[in-house]
Amino acid sequence: MKTRHVVSLLFVLALLLSACGGAQEAKTVKVAVLAPLSGAVPTFGVSTRDGALMAIDEWNAKGGVLGMQIEAVVEDSQCTADPAVAAANKVIDTDGVHYIVGEVCSKASIPISEIAEAKGVVQISPTSTNANVTLNADGTTKKFVFRACFIDPFQGLVGASFATKQGFKTAFIMFDQGNDYVRGLAEAFEGAYTAAGGTIVGKESYTAQDTDFSAILAKVADANPDVVYLPDYYNIVNLVTAQAKEKGITAPFMGGDGWDSADLNKEAASGGFYTNHYSEKDTRPIVGTFVANYGAKYGGAVPDALAALAYDATNLLLAAIEKAGADDAAKVAAAMEALSYDAVSGTITFDAQHNPIKAAVVLQVAPDTINWVDTVAP
Ligand code: PHE
Repeated sequence: MKTRHVVSLLFVLALLLSACGGAQEAKTVKVAVLAPLSGAVPTFGVSTRDGALMAIDEWNAKGGVLGMQIEAVVEDSQCTADPAVAAANKVIDTDGVHYIVGEVCSKASIPISEIAEAKGVVQISPTSTNANVTLNADGTTKKFVFRACFIDPFQGLVGASFATKQGFKTAFIMFDQGNDYVRGLAEAFEGAYTAAGGTIVGKESYTAQDTDFSAILAKVADANPDVVYLPDYYNIVNLVTAQAKEKGITAPFMGGDGWDSADLNKEAASGGFYTNHYSEKDTRPIVGTFVANYGAKYGGAVPDALAALAYDATNLLLAAIEKAGADDAAKVAAAMEALSYDAVSGTITFDAQHNPIKAAVVLQVAPDTINWVDTVAP
């Protein structure tokens, strides 16, 4: 009798202890945010991190997802393949994440996507626009990889149609041959622009390490094009447009979403145009609410497209987890495929290649601001 009492008392104690232990290590859902916080394009990383964390904080304030709080694991993947691969392996193998938001740059997102696909981890890139991010080499769709943005064949077409509409009959293309995004967007622009009757009067490549563009700009001056297409990131755009101004080149420059940065030199790029995902001046109420909440959270900062899309991508991921009903990457990927989500950058549904079908905006750079010019639906 006595022994039985002791045994049942021990049993109750053990139950209590395990319940307490469980409460101390409450289950969380980990979401990795892989973004270039250092390196050549740090504004991309900061905006992406801040947009993603804002979405996570909002979900946590509402009780998390599937009753669990969401834990962000932020890593600096530097817009570069090797650090991106190291960061992806670290968050999967060491931190045990099943979900990755990132990267920004296609040349980092493509190697991450191969790891995510092989390890069965869901990846959603907010902003990587190169078509190959979601595709295997044989053209089939990666099961676990998604994006929240349009792709470059569309972005290049929008840029080319706009250039044609502006009456730009001749274009000079400058591109970084080692950057998947820049090379892909340059090709997409060239194909669409020549198909619309435009003439390419020069095409020159450079590398990401170049800082002196005078040889190429001398060729631009000789060719005297109506427009110079430069679909690179803001750091290169700043160098090239400043040197072009010094050379007396007056043709406007045009580019893509890579121009989107608070650190774009608007004075040097003034008069230029770029295609992008979103404008904070959009009058849809969802945009106004997002811009106001972001400013309130981050000391008055105005969210750029990277912040908006990181917010959207994180919300999409969490909505898919909720819809899947389980912290299970395969189920979440299946739920994501069937999702329709009202996002800041537009209503998102995925096509067979896991790409959202959504509009692009055309913006123009002025010396002290960026102006919305056009919105183009697919
Ligand atoms: N689209 C770019 C890429 O694929 C990244 C980018 C998106 C940069 C949006 C700025 C703004 O590399």
